Amino acid sequence: MQIITTQQELTQVVEACKLQRKSIGLVPTMGALHEGHASLVRQSVEQNTVTFVSVFVNPTQFNNKEDLAKYPRNPQADAELLASLGADFMFAPTPEEMYSEQEMKETFSFDFCGLDKVMEGKMRPGHFNGVVQIVSRLFYLVKPDRAYFGEKDYQQLAIIHFMVERSELAGTFGNLQIIGCPIVREDSGLALSSRNARLSAEEKETALGISKTLFQSLEWAKTMSVKEVEQKVIDTINAIDGLEVEYYSIVDQSTLLPATTFEHAIGCVTVYCGPVRLIDNIKY
Ligand code: PAF
Repeated sequence: MQIITTQQELTQVVEACKLQRKSIGLVPTMGALHEGHASLVRQSVEQNTVTFVSVFVNPTQFNNKEDLAKYPRNPQADAELLASLGADFMFAPTPEEMYSEQEMKETFSFDFCGLDKVMEGKMRPGHFNGVVQIVSRLFYLVKPDRAYFGEKDYQQLAIIHFMVERSELAGTFGNLQIIGCPIVREDSGLALSSRNARLSAEEKETALGISKTLFQSLEWAKTMSVKEVEQKVIDTINAIDGLEVEYYSIVDQSTLLPATTFEHAIGCVTVYCGPVRLIDNIKY
């Protein structure tokens, strides 16, 4: 596997792949890779001639400096894992390589038609603008045929679908296919996340209350209304010592608008486990 750190080298390598008519898979990540990322890389390796994985903790999507500073970083282990999975290129630039000083300072702005005004977007203003800023730049540079994202960040996936559909109108990203991949969980049910590395053993045990409650809510949905299930999930998680719900919203899987029935609905939750902010979701 080749490690690339500059945009210039990346462009050259991509051009060579295109000349050889190789299909390109892209897996954008922020590193601290785990089995969830590995599942995306495996799928890309299976479906494309070459796979690029970006490993870049994107500063413009963090609205909390402390969160950015504490985000786990493990480039050596990431490179080893990616090589073992059969990825062809790891793109690991510095922030200075990706952004001019001006770009670091000013907020990139994209009209999401309201998709960014709920849940994560509401709690982390500007977050999705930063995500789209980096993801669209990666699409321009790597020109992938397929790009892979985990369903754990469900709203991010919906927003990227929206961005690509809008850009397709202008033919920007060609025939790029966005592929969402299911959440990977530990046997205990805990959704894999790079942020889990920040949990103590005890906090990890406590965090199990999140997925456990979401799974229980599938049963509750058989007899209760959407609003009642939302409230019961919030109350059940908050009753667990060490967990505090930021939001739980049951929304339509495509529009992210509040659901009135469980048909085509998904419940998205964000919970603080001590200082660590965890997200998870469940489809009804
Ligand atoms: O999901 C992530 O890890 C990030 O938001 C992404 C898509 C790599 C953009 O920085």
